[in-house]
Amino acid sequence: METERNFVARARACRSHQDIQDVYAQWADTYDSDLVNGAHDYVAPVIAAETAYQLLSHNSGAVLDAGCGTGLVGAALAKRGATAIDGLDISPHMLRIAETSGAYHNVFLGDLTKEIAKPSQSYELVTCVGTFTHGHVGPVPALRQFSRLLKDGGHIVATVLEELWLPGGFQEEVGKLAAEGLMDVISIELHPYLKGQDRAHVLILRKKRKRVSVSTL
Ligand SMILES: C[S@@+](CC[C@H](N)C(=O)[O-])C[C@H]1O[C@@H](n2cnc3c(N)ncnc32)[C@H](O)[C@@H]1O
Repeated sequence: METERNFVARARACRSHQDIQDVYAQWADTYDSDLVNGAHDYVAPVIAAETAYQLLSHNSGAVLDAGCGTGLVGAALAKRGATAIDGLDISPHMLRIAETSGAYHNVFLGDLTKEIAKPSQSYELVTCVGTFTHGHVGPVPALRQFSRLLKDGGHIVATVLEELWLPGGFQEEVGKLAAEGLMDVISIELHPYLKGQDRAHVLILRKKRKRVSVSTL
């Protein structure tokens, strides 16, 4: 139990990409058993996946699971029927486990603090669970990148640890995306995260459809 707590504390204390690589390289093999079956009751992936799946237009709609880790969200989506899920993560050790889960069509290394190397309008859904937390990824540029990657009308479903919503700049960036006419805010609700320990905002945003202006000559 001590080790499990240590990994959560160590992950949240990361100060650099090297720290992230080191922690997750050591944690990858026991991450699922520690968080889901161990001292923690990490309910966020299933809560987010249930919400996200309902937003898919059909099972083969393209999904990006950003910060996929070992693939808990992908597995929950695939269990419901989703078949076209890509997983992105900065940790090759976590990605290796996501790949062997069989839930993902494709997994690739990526850094959510930079531009994501995928064409615009590639996905109808972007999920990001457990990655907007202490020591990990902030809202800029990640939320704007997700918006770019979405087809018009596509959705972002993301968790943001409760205590980071305001001080981490998430509320501000979501407000900017809405004010600029890029995304509509569908809902922002608090849900259990590590059940009994902390909560996260589950954020649902929808990319605005571009207005087509018809000119009469
Ligand atoms: C707590 S885990 C969450 C994994 C998975 N989504 C889940 O809910 O189990 C956070 C993940 O974020 C990844 N991560 C941290 N910083 C990142 C970055 N800059 N770009 C991409 N992934 C990152 C870590 O490697 C780790 O797999």
